[in-house]
Amino acid sequence: MGETILEVKGLQTHFFTDDGEIPAVNKVDFHVDKGEVLGIVGESGSGKSVTSLSVMGLVPKPPGKIVGGEINFKDENLVNASEKRMRQIRGNEIAMIFQEPMTSLNPVFTIGNQLIEAIRLHNKWDKKKAKARAVEILKLVGLPRAEELIDEYPHQLSGGMRQRVMIAMAMACDPEVLIADEPTTALDVTIQAQILELMKDLNKNRGTAIMLITHDLGVVAEMCQRVAVMYSGNIVEEGTVKQIFKEPKHPYTVGLIKSVPDMTSKRERLYSIPGSVQKPGSIKVGCPFAPRCEHAFDRCVSETPALLEAGDEGQKVSCWLHHD
Ligand SMILES: Nc1ncnc2c1ncn2[C@@H]1O[C@H](COP(=O)(O)OP(=O)(O)OP(=O)(O)O)[C@@H](O)[C@H]1O
Ligand code: SF4
Ligand SMILES: [Mg+2]
Repeated sequence: MGETILEVKGLQTHFFTDDGEIPAVNKVDFHVDKGEVLGIVGESGSGKSVTSLSVMGLVPKPPGKIVGGEINFKDENLVNASEKRMRQIRGNEIAMIFQEPMTSLNPVFTIGNQLIEAIRLHNKWDKKKAKARAVEILKLVGLPRAEELIDEYPHQLSGGMRQRVMIAMAMACDPEVLIADEPTTALDVTIQAQILELMKDLNKNRGTAIMLITHDLGVVAEMCQRVAVMYSGNIVEEGTVKQIFKEPKHPYTVGLIKSVPDMTSKRERLYSIPGSVQKPGSIKVGCPFAPRCEHAFDRCVSETPALLEAGDEGQKVSCWLHHD
């Protein structure tokens, strides 16, 4: 096991809405080791984005608030960090790329402005040197006409190009952790493969640890060393890619794996998990997956299972089938 760079412990991020308090992230524990790629998977609404926004200090406040837990980045608990400190961290140490890059690129500044600013924030170089580096990075991420592109605005670029610019920004900052929230979902398959390749380079060549959020298990198999499976605001299983794909333990993970189209089988219809994700917090006691679980028994509705080690070393699951 490597050295941990980011450790999330008992994280609780709640939304205070007219319908009441929603525990979108409900005591979540996970860690990211230096230089590794951790995948986070789960159906829509399971709390993946709120978890990453919590780490970045970007939960919309109100209605959201971190009400408990720790986010330990190196020696610092980010839950207690000031907004000023979080801005430093976001520019330098932890970067995030989103599904839709327009949300993080500023439409009123040129690509060059934004990239050069990121570089200068990090390196304290003069403008000329920073500009040369910006052009170099744009070329590195495979963008054509880098010298001209630098004077263009985000809306003049295609979605794939904008995502490359976001990766260029991440490279400019040289962060220790990169959080990528569905970075390729909006892109076509060829571009998707290229963007994933760039992220792999970043990980291999610079040792950037990556937290990769995706609903695509193919991407997980290709990119990640470990996976955390989220369901209704909780992590329900965690393990190496091999453990999760070969020996999934939680019935929800088993369902997710089964729902991946398998080219080799003769199965006619794709399996999908019956029912839909419960609104976080709607199940007060017991296993949140119980209403959809074909193995549910008495204990599942009377006691909440904790995420505990089961099976091979390091694999963890929150399910009564695997605990005494
Ligand atoms: N601004 C908000 N106000 C109120 N509740 C919110 C808000 N944002 C998120 N939530 C709650 O948090 C839950 C988790 O949302 P989140 O965006 O983290 O899901 P996700 O796993 O990223 O889903 P997706 O795969 O669709 O991106 C939602 O189901 C919703 O209940
Ligand atoms: S604890 Fe019970 S309901 Fe929950 S996943 Fe396990 S068997 Fe199913
Ligand atoms: Mg999301």
